[in-house]
Amino acid sequence: MTKHVSPDEHRKTFRAEILAGLTAPRKTCNSKWLYDDVGSHLFEAITELDAYYPTRTELAILKRNAAKYRRLPGARGTMVELGSGSSRKTDLLLNAFQDLSVYMPIDISANHLKASAERVRRAYPSLAVIPVAADFTQPFGKLPLLPELPVLVFFPGSTIGNFEKDAAIGLLRQIRDAMPEATMIVGVDRPKAESVLLEAYDDPAGITAAFNMNLLQRINRELEADFDLASFAHQAIWNAGESRIEMHLKSLKAQTVTVAGEHIAFADSETIHTENSHKYSEKALSEIAGESGWRVLDVDTDPDGLFSVNTLQAN
Ligand code: AVJ
Repeated sequence: MTKHVSPDEHRKTFRAEILAGLTAPRKTCNSKWLYDDVGSHLFEAITELDAYYPTRTELAILKRNAAKYRRLPGARGTMVELGSGSSRKTDLLLNAFQDLSVYMPIDISANHLKASAERVRRAYPSLAVIPVAADFTQPFGKLPLLPELPVLVFFPGSTIGNFEKDAAIGLLRQIRDAMPEATMIVGVDRPKAESVLLEAYDDPAGITAAFNMNLLQRINRELEADFDLASFAHQAIWNAGESRIEMHLKSLKAQTVTVAGEHIAFADSETIHTENSHKYSEKALSEIAGESGWRVLDVDTDPDGLFSVNTLQAN
């Protein structure tokens, strides 16, 4: 995991994974590929939307409880942030954790990581900043942790919700095994009225649609593909059985697309499943925590119970 992934290697993996997903019986794409530079900026724009409640709600929960999180041992040691996402959330904790020694952001996007590490170095000159460019969904290597410092893992944004149940358990177990005594602050979105969820994932301004459609543009740019953007549409679906929002890209007609030399046939209305966003009740979260070697110490939520910030302790 600490291994730096070269741009060339990254492109090869992208090509292989995209082609595998597009030639599968049910077309799919790992949602991590939505987050290139353009996608990351579009996601930032999503977090500002009225319709998209998770970011501001999580931020408010963190704000309300920061003084409490400051008493966790890792707040005086190393804070490892998975997916160096929103600087506002990071700053909230860094401002509260006056005695923190090391900040270790881990992110798949090397550019994004570099920018956020530089920003934190400038804003918090007494903090040691150790960025790790890695795909944390792949097996962890050894992290450059200082053994004498306690660890606080910060895993915000309901990113865990992107993973299917078994993969989420696998990821949590892997985090635990890499940092066996850590405490973790993990943000998860909760199940709620379908209308609220659909509005959040298919916003009236069309930013989420642009975010999803950017995947096709990225494939066109990077894999010499010829997706006709006017022949696909963004779709958000609430899958109640799996307690998740699904994003799809729906083909508006029967058509064939060429991707990296391969011909990919689409039936009318066939979709590429591009993202899952699982919504965890308190019970569901404590189940996956228990199955992956963690126990829930504390659950903080907003007055409407939209979102939860959970403090987990490695068992
Ligand atoms: C970044 C995965 C938390 O699932 O809410 C937002 C991504 N996709 N709108 C989410 C997303 C569409 C977001 N996460």
